[in-house]
Amino acid sequence: MPLITWRDADGREISGNVASGTNLMRAARDAGVPGIHGDCGGALACATCHVATDPVWAERLGPPGPLEDEMLDMVDGEWTPTSRLSCQILAHEDLEGLILIVPPGA
Ligand code: FES
Repeated sequence: MPLITWRDADGREISGNVASGTNLMRAARDAGVPGIHGDCGGALACATCHVATDPVWAERLGPPGPLEDEMLDMVDGEWTPTSRLSCQILAHEDLEGLILIVPPGA
């Protein structure tokens, strides 16, 4: 159960241990993270689960898949080269300490 932290634009953080196999949109909603809506339930159809990481974590997470990459084009607000859709990231032990940035205006 890795410890995951969500950080908003003002530096406020919410952290929680997430069961392996849980997608990080669902985990954010369960933890009450503002700005992570997950309107499509993780079906890659809304991009309301947008997060970003720092470059080190982006490297460790790997690139978005092709469909995720297409959906990232629809992100409102702050897109970055390290943007991901959190419904497409599954928790596992190697993500211990991961920090996800919730974009401003999300
Ligand atoms: S929850 Fe809709 S794309 Fe992630």
